[in-house]
This record gives sequence, C-alpha cells and structure tokens, in this order.
Amino acid sequence: MRIIMLGAPGAGKGTQAIKISEKYKIPHISTGDIFRANIKNGTPLGEKAKTYMDQGLLVPDELVVELVVDRIQNEDCEKGYVLDGFPRTIPQAEALTKALEAVGQKIDFAIDVEVPDENIVRRMSGRRACVDCGATYHLVYAAPKKEGICDQCEGSLILREDDKPETVSKRLSVYHEQTQPLIDYYSNAGALKSVDGTIDIEDVFQAIVEILGA
Ligand code: AP5
Ligand code: ZN
Repeated sequence: MRIIMLGAPGAGKGTQAIKISEKYKIPHISTGDIFRANIKNGTPLGEKAKTYMDQGLLVPDELVVELVVDRIQNEDCEKGYVLDGFPRTIPQAEALTKALEAVGQKIDFAIDVEVPDENIVRRMSGRRACVDCGATYHLVYAAPKKEGICDQCEGSLILREDDKPETVSKRLSVYHEQTQPLIDYYSNAGALKSVDGTIDIEDVFQAIVEILGA
C-alpha cells in the first residue's frame, strides 16, 4: 500500500503517518524528519535545507526528489510506505508519478487531513519536538508523561524554530500556493481521500483506517 499524506503544516500528517506505519507495518518516510536529521548532523544537505526551512520556505525540488525516489527503492518499501511531507509541489508529484510508472506502480491513497488555518497557528504554538529523536508532542493534545522530557528517549522538548507564529503564517501561505494544487492532482488520479483533521487524534485515525481497510 503506497500512501501520501496531504494537508497544511501542523494538520497532523506526521501524527497519523506514524500510526499508519505501525498498524500496516510499512515505513514512514518524512522529508521534514530527514532534513532535520541532516541539520542536526551538520551535513551539507542539512546546511542547504536549513536556510529555507528557517524562513518557512520549501527546499528546492531538486534537493528533495532524488532523495525520496532513492529511498522508496529500498527493500523495506516493497510492501509500500507512507510518505509524509512529499510531494509538496506539482513538479515533485510529477517526478514521483514518473518514477513509479517506470516500475509499473502508482500511489494508492492520497489522504488529505483537513484543518482550517485558524486552528493551525494554535496547534503549532503548542507543539514540542524532541531535540534528540524528533518525536512530536503537544502541550494540550498529546502531552509527554514528564513535562519538557521526551517519553521515548528522555531528550529535551523544544519549540521548533519554524513553529514560531511569524514563520507558521509564511508556511501556511506557501502551502496554499504550492502544495494545495496537489489536492486536484491526486483527485484527478483517483487517489484522493479527505478526512476531518480537527477531531481527536484517535478519531482521525479511525477515519483513515476505514479508508485503508482494517
Ligand atoms: P515538515 O516537517 O514536513 O513540516 P510540515 O508539513 O509543515 O508539517 P509539520 O511537521 O509541521 O506538521 P504535521 O502535519 O506533520 O503535524 P503534526 O502531526 O506534527 O517540513 C518542514 C520543512 O521542511 C518545510 O517547511 C520545508 O522547508 C521542508 N520540506 C519538507 N519536505 C519538503 C518537500 N517535499 N519539498 C520542499 N521542502 C520540504 O501535528 C502538529 C501538532 O498538532 C502536534 O503537536 C500534534 O501533537 C498536534 N495534533 C496532531 N493531530 C491533532 C489532532 N487531531 N488534534 C489536536 N492536536 C493534534
Ligand atoms: Zn526523544
């Protein structure tokens, strides 16, 4: 099962992608996580990506496409995968379609997690991410067991640089301009499924399971 998560920044793509990955035993591939790991490790890719990410802008397509197309050729992707944060522009979607077509494959489901802009800024200001493993929490909706400490690795939890309110509004406008057109793209491809992302995390997941099948 090859799945794409669509939705605004902070809609809950990552939260749901992790749950999908666990239930259906397919890898979760997040381009945002890949870039953040590269930034943390000080790689040349990380250095390039950081300048865009900190401003709320998209990293150029050429830095992303090859990375993902290579990754999905790994052995662990044979049964499928859930892509989170990719594709994010029409050229990225076209490159993915082309790479899949070349091996007789296609995206089965593009799940759009719908959350209005008003809710997004509130959500992002409450998000906290682990500096060590990248796990994501929310002060109100998905609180860690110990305040400020990651449940999984005991790392410290911080507000992501790009979750500051001024950067969030830039990311939202970039989303509407460059990523929202993918909804039509995947609708035309017959793969689009939409879920209400404003309800409880577990209820959003139930709606997704109904789409994917138990
Ligand atoms: P990326 O990491 O992909 O960021 P994003 O798309 O902006 O998505 P987020 O991770 O912010 O949010 P999410 O939808 O996963 O929400 P989450 O589950 O955490 O990308 C970061 C940057 O990298 C980009 O800006 C760009 O520069 C670059 N980049 C990455 N991919 C790229 C690409 N393909 N091309 C070019 N550039 C690229 O949830 C958010 C919060 O809400 C959490 O605190 C969570 O606990 C909480 N929450 C989740 N669901 C619910 C719910 N139902 N109710 C209440 N709270 C909830
Ligand atoms: Zn951690």
